Amino acid sequence: MSDIDIGTEQGVLTMRFNRPAKKNAITAAMYQVMADTLKAADADAAVRVVLIKGAADIFTAGNDLEDFMKNPPAGSDSPVFQFLYNISHAKKPLVAAVTGAAVGIGTTMLLHCDVVYAGDNAKFTLPFAALGLCPEAASSLLLPAIAGYQRAAEKLLFGEPFDAHEAREMGFVNQVLPAAEVAAFALGRAQKLAQLPASSVRTTKALMRSAHLKAVEAQMTDEGAHFRKMLTSPEAKEAFSAFFERRKPDFSTFA
Ligand code: COA
Repeated sequence: MSDIDIGTEQGVLTMRFNRPAKKNAITAAMYQVMADTLKAADADAAVRVVLIKGAADIFTAGNDLEDFMKNPPAGSDSPVFQFLYNISHAKKPLVAAVTGAAVGIGTTMLLHCDVVYAGDNAKFTLPFAALGLCPEAASSLLLPAIAGYQRAAEKLLFGEPFDAHEAREMGFVNQVLPAAEVAAFALGRAQKLAQLPASSVRTTKALMRSAHLKAVEAQMTDEGAHFRKMLTSPEAKEAFSAFFERRKPDFSTFA
């Protein structure tokens, strides 16, 4: 059993987080699999749509904090940044099915998906500032553009969880469904997309995405430079240690 399950059926490639013991937290090895899968999907005519999903009670807890502490991504070609590059440049449509918590990159990756369906048990969190980090995945550009500046700022600064209805009002969730129905509904939508003329679907997506792609690339580069530096900061060390020690972090001594 792999931490990322991959299977293709009727033109839909499904990528499923499958690391339940760690709430589907994403390690460098998992990022590499996802980055490679997205790249291969773009080159494979048998794949028309990519569906991203997690488990019924957890989408993903985001970056694996232990892995990040032990092996912080050193350069822009590290697995997490390869994944972000490939998801933001994906040519085939990406459908997401979110049930349970979607933390950090679990939420920011959705900004690169084309349609997002969420369960009424979904909970989104952008805890970067609270972890001594900064936004990634061009979320500091895309979220204000999608949701408006103040709504994005509240989520990115405070890092408090919010539900699927609020995510829908913000504009990055298409539809909220009973949690038990999300997986089948999203698969049905992906299959429907897979039956449409593939080149028209790809061109429609490319036209919508291309207008902002350069700005997204530039923002990701900027965010990535800050993020890599901040990962080894004393603030991040305090935040990560506090998480594993199940205590409240104390940032009072840092300027
Ligand atoms: N990195 C590494 N391990 C993680 C993790 C993460 N991001 N999220 C959860 N885990 C591990 C926990 O350490 C715990 O491991 P253990 O059983 O060996 O002690 C296990 O997964 C279960 O987590 P727990 O916190 O007990 O589950 P929960 O149901 O109470 O809460 C979450 C689920 C997702 C809300 C909570 O785990 C969480 O907030 N995780 C951190 C999210 C985060 O900050 N991500 C980084 C974003 S940049």
